[in-house]
Amino acid sequence: MRLTILGGGGFRVPLVYGALLRDRAEGRVTQVVLHDLDAARLSAVGRVLAEQAAGVPDAPEVVATTDLDEALRGADFVFSAIRVGGLEGRAEDERVALAEGVLGQETVGAGGIAYGLRTVPVAVDIARRVARLAPDAWVINFTNPAGLVTEAMSRHLGDRVIGICDSPVGLGRRVARVLGAHPDRAWIDYVGLNHLGWLRGLRVAGRDQLPRLLADPELLGSFEEGRLFGAEWLRSLGAIPNEYLHYYYFNRETVRAYQEADRTRGAFLRDQQARFYDGMRSPDAPALATWDRTRAEREATYMAENRETAGAGEREAEDLSGGYENVALALMRAVARDERTTLILNVRNRGTLSVLDPDAVIEVPCLVDADGAHPVAVDPLPGHATGLVCAVKAVERDILAAAGTGSREMAVRAFALHPLVDSVDVARRLVDGYTAVHPGLGYLR
Ligand code: G6P
Ligand code: MN
Repeated sequence: MRLTILGGGGFRVPLVYGALLRDRAEGRVTQVVLHDLDAARLSAVGRVLAEQAAGVPDAPEVVATTDLDEALRGADFVFSAIRVGGLEGRAEDERVALAEGVLGQETVGAGGIAYGLRTVPVAVDIARRVARLAPDAWVINFTNPAGLVTEAMSRHLGDRVIGICDSPVGLGRRVARVLGAHPDRAWIDYVGLNHLGWLRGLRVAGRDQLPRLLADPELLGSFEEGRLFGAEWLRSLGAIPNEYLHYYYFNRETVRAYQEADRTRGAFLRDQQARFYDGMRSPDAPALATWDRTRAEREATYMAENRETAGAGEREAEDLSGGYENVALALMRAVARDERTTLILNVRNRGTLSVLDPDAVIEVPCLVDADGAHPVAVDPLPGHATGLVCAVKAVERDILAAAGTGSREMAVRAFALHPLVDSVDVARRLVDGYTAVHPGLGYLR
């Protein structure tokens, strides 16, 4: 079985390969094709993988290429994990927004819109090529903003593209743990858009355990989202929001804290990763050890800016290791081996949330088997959550329209209608600011 990884020179690829090496089951991946635009990054990551594979019997073979079509031909699964504009682009997304006094963040608010506008045309090109060259392949999309990008690709690939994120899984696992439930035996009632969802219940043997958590201030103070949002607000909501909702519920405080920080998360990661890839230029650098040291440093600062200012504390080590590569592997296994399982994924709505049309990509528990991911019926969202979901989906649709037509006016509309952008004038200046720094937005006219 052949897995193609787009963004194959990316820093997280060794995590995926590590998960593949641990998979000993029948029908596992036997060949990995790494694709990246940057040959130096490909060779750096290739060396890390070679050291990971040393001594592992039947380790999946790794080939690397900078030719996209060659990478796609013959693929059974395609992981799309690209970062258009690189971490330099992310740092600019964050900086330009904060300079305008609005949220500068990778995927949420103005920064996320800029990232989406840059990424959608590239993701659509990939989707078209997959449809032509590997029509039977399943595409697993990690590329952020994951919900929007999955929807863009689904217009060409239908339900053969499935978006993933580690945040709902992590949230479910943390809530299960504080409730003393085994995460695999708990039913997690979670729905929304990517980075915009709510956990409304956690049922063990048919019994909802969430009310017990919401009633217990001590339990609420014992996990990350509890500290991040505060017991009182969680009780008012009657649900546990995804950590990214912090940017909505505490927007003003976060913007101020980010403006006061020395540098943004993107700028930190840009510098840190540059050190890794630079270090790997020396042919005798120990690849795996260098990668591992960089990874540990990165995890230690994981979203620290927001978490610490908000009093959420650092993420526990256990929550860092169960990341997206495991979601991806679980998904791939379920599809490839028809091993029925339930995962929270980004898929087309198909009537699950009746306020959205059937093609709108949402994040929802899905039954996964050889036929793909099927959203499970869930209760409707309450009014306040429906309001946010509909507003943000409308913004995503404007981003898709701007990317499809090149309309600058549509791009301005996307920024202006986002709940975290407070003025049409600001939206216009954001479009000017972003087009000035991002070559990838040159298509906007
Ligand atoms: C989580 C989210 C990802 C996001 C990442 C950012 O894993 O689910 O969508 O990209 O955090 O982490 P970083 O270390 O890049 O700031
Ligand atoms: Mn995510």
